Amino acid sequence: MASLPREQWSSRYGFVMAAVGSAVGLGNMWRFSYLTAENGGAAFVVLYLAITLVVGLPVLLAELTLGRGAQKSPIRALAHFGGNRWKPLGLVFVAAGFLILSYYSVIAGWTVRYALSGIVFGFDGDAAANFGEVATGWDAFGFHLAFMAGTIYIVAHGVSGGIERTAMILMPALFAIVIALAFYASTLEGAGGGYAYYLETDFTKLSELDVWKAAAGQAFFSLSLGMGAMLTFASYLDRNSNLPAESIVIAVADVGIAFIAGLVVFPMIYALNLSSDVGESTVGALFITLPKAFAEMGGVGRGVGGLFFVALVVGALTSAISLLEVVVSAAIDGLGWSRRFAAVVLGATIAVIGIPSAWNTNILGAVDEVANNIFLLGGGFALAIFVGWWMADPEGEVAQGTSGPFWLPIWRNLLRFAVPLFLGFVLYFAIPSTWRTVASLF
Ligand code: PHE
Repeated sequence: MASLPREQWSSRYGFVMAAVGSAVGLGNMWRFSYLTAENGGAAFVVLYLAITLVVGLPVLLAELTLGRGAQKSPIRALAHFGGNRWKPLGLVFVAAGFLILSYYSVIAGWTVRYALSGIVFGFDGDAAANFGEVATGWDAFGFHLAFMAGTIYIVAHGVSGGIERTAMILMPALFAIVIALAFYASTLEGAGGGYAYYLETDFTKLSELDVWKAAAGQAFFSLSLGMGAMLTFASYLDRNSNLPAESIVIAVADVGIAFIAGLVVFPMIYALNLSSDVGESTVGALFITLPKAFAEMGGVGRGVGGLFFVALVVGALTSAISLLEVVVSAAIDGLGWSRRFAAVVLGATIAVIGIPSAWNTNILGAVDEVANNIFLLGGGFALAIFVGWWMADPEGEVAQGTSGPFWLPIWRNLLRFAVPLFLGFVLYFAIPSTWRTVASLF
């Protein structure tokens, strides 16, 4: 079959915006805040930052290296550098794409609904009842479908014409909104309590294994690691791009937005005396507490809350695009499908897989746990082994197009030892506890 030349990003800036768009999403603004609340504030934040630097960043550079080097989608890229026996790992990545997007899109649907109804009608003071309505049943399903349709539309338009263009317009808008909201939150009376909770470290928390598990899962989820999303995006880069520099820019932007989102969420919650609500944090907590805060702020709350949810929608969309692209690129490369056909058929399949999550938030929470604790951490573990031990010359592959920074040998050694040891340790605890969560559904 004659194949078209591989698609490419039209500029370095476009690639960086698309990759940052993949990283920055619900993970930074919803998941990060709710996990921080659940795991005792600043200790969790410090741990998450450390894991991102020592474990996340090396895996990110590994993914970028595999993608750019092979110029192929995940399954073929692994076969390119490791032979056919590594193909099943690529299949696991594609399966993770299906699984994560199926519930990610449901949550994204809630944010679309909140953004629209908040701006048009104002936020509902009876936030818990309202959440029950928004987050389950036909309502949740309808917005999930609408969100998937938007994601499919953009991916169908291609790498530079769809994904890159969207990210180049939307990401700067998201940065501006989040920074403006953080300034606004700092002017609220009583914001100090929120900062104190968020920034004062209680190191005794570090003795709890659950905190480590949550921080590791969050580091991978937030950087879009362990399932080939970054690998796929890097496969559209030309060979002389500077991967170490890109990986640092992506990680800094991702962590920066998560941190600033915390500077929005915690002061607002404390200023309106809603902190006890967050204490019993679950998947839905932020979607109840924040709208309550916005409702209490009156007219201002409508604008502030509207902007907050618009930022969430934007972040979710640019991340969902990257999840769908993993699956679509695999079908284009492996099955010879056209981009448009692949986007529609696979996107529709994912929408169907999301139905149980749209009906029941406990199912959604369990799928989220499986995806993170098993697929992403397991995928990161396997990637580290692959690049650290199996691949012939990873340092040489990174250094194409650049001189290669002095820390490349450190990078290789982190992938060989620290990353697999750490992830192996976390998986050892995460697998049984995730199993219990899944079993409790039945
Ligand atoms: N990083 C995205 C977020 O923080 C989620 C994501 C995970 C996207 C894995 C792609 C792959 O919202």
